[in-house]
Amino acid sequence: MKFISIDEAIKNGKGKVALRGWIYRERGSNQLKFLVLRDSTDIIQCVIDKDRISEKEWNDADKLLIESSVELEGEIAKDKRAPTGYEVKVSKLNVIHFAEKYPITKDQSIEVLADYRHLWVRSRRMTAILKIRSTVFGAIHEFFRKKGYYEFHSPIIIPGGAEEGPTLFEVKYFNQKMYLTQTWQLYAEAAMFSLEKIYSINPSFRAEKSKTSRHLTEYWHTEVEVAWFNLYDLMDLCEDLVKHIIIKVLKENKKELKILERDVKKLEPVVKNKFPRMTYSEAVELLNKKGMKVSWGKDLRTIEEEKIMEGYDTPVFVTHYPKDAMAFYKPKDPKNPKVAVCFDMLGPEGNGELVGGSERDTNINELIKTLKKKGENVKDYDYFLDTRKYGSIPHGGFGMGTERMIKWICGLDSIKDAIGFPRTMTRFKP
Ligand code: 4AD
Ligand code: MG
Repeated sequence: MKFISIDEAIKNGKGKVALRGWIYRERGSNQLKFLVLRDSTDIIQCVIDKDRISEKEWNDADKLLIESSVELEGEIAKDKRAPTGYEVKVSKLNVIHFAEKYPITKDQSIEVLADYRHLWVRSRRMTAILKIRSTVFGAIHEFFRKKGYYEFHSPIIIPGGAEEGPTLFEVKYFNQKMYLTQTWQLYAEAAMFSLEKIYSINPSFRAEKSKTSRHLTEYWHTEVEVAWFNLYDLMDLCEDLVKHIIIKVLKENKKELKILERDVKKLEPVVKNKFPRMTYSEAVELLNKKGMKVSWGKDLRTIEEEKIMEGYDTPVFVTHYPKDAMAFYKPKDPKNPKVAVCFDMLGPEGNGELVGGSERDTNINELIKTLKKKGENVKDYDYFLDTRKYGSIPHGGFGMGTERMIKWICGLDSIKDAIGFPRTMTRFKP
């Protein structure tokens, strides 16, 4: 017989089926065994009756521990008591591998689950998250490709920084010191002159010492760089991208969102409503009105971002942050030189900064001045500054923390669950 997946079998709902997968749960008596089988698509209860199967098969079934792999055949039928509403009466059982006693049992601590991550990825919860993650990545590619963007790849090992220095990871590169990239951006700005509209989903690295629920040291960065775009074009593009991702997940991952007990009503306003926009100065005013003492000039911290987001059920764009607190490439606003032409997109439900973007400074003297002020070696940026010497044009881009998006969409407590094998300062194994 041809093997089919569990969800196909459930869709068929009747007749003979051949299934294969792993034992998700098992219990039984000396006459009947109830095995819950799982594969990547779903779980299904399978019942083995001692009288309807050979002695060898019965003895094998008796020895099956959780996560043993099996092939089986049987008759599928509706059964209200079964966990997914169907049951298979097994007529044939072939054990592929008898598993040892599974080290993951019920109600284990987060730390134990992290130590056994290589096994925990098989859990229904992780399987659901990884499927949603796959949808998110697919949706991003689809969004940009439909709009005629090219996928461009930058090097991962780079000679210098772009964002704040302290989060650079050093790499011993033969006899030289190099770094793991924090962003694709500086190379993207060079490639933009060739391709005009480019995007990428690439690993980025930040030596973050903070232990928060939103920081990884290795994350997948969705980045875009566009010729001729200004701040408002960028925010429109960003909003459309976020909406496209959410629409896709709501459509394709109903089952997974249910497994995660995600309240999808919280995501629906995101698709329907326009994301509000406010300036940093307005945000500071709002915070002070709400009783927080925030002085103008500092980058916003998590607690401040959360306070701003109270009462919003969609992301909010905060624009025009203080120039001095921003990365060197963000240009000053010609109308107000104290602020940069940039934005952050803050997520609802305490998710904070999901996206950061800006127009790019095209004034080579300003760039050099800012780099010096930040203590950078201007020589390291020669290749970048060259882009401002040969047909420089207005352009801009943004970067989205893909795991932060996934954390938000899935309603996860920690960003660590938004990726198969998370890397943080304290967690790097397995
Ligand atoms: O705001 P950031 O640092 O901006 C840049 O790197 C720009 N060069 C992007 C660009 O314009 N091409 O990072 C962008 C986003 C943040 O908004 C955040 O969502 C995510 O990357 N991010 C992290 N995600 C997980 N773990 C970390 N340690 C992150 N650091 C930033
Ligand atoms: Mg940022």
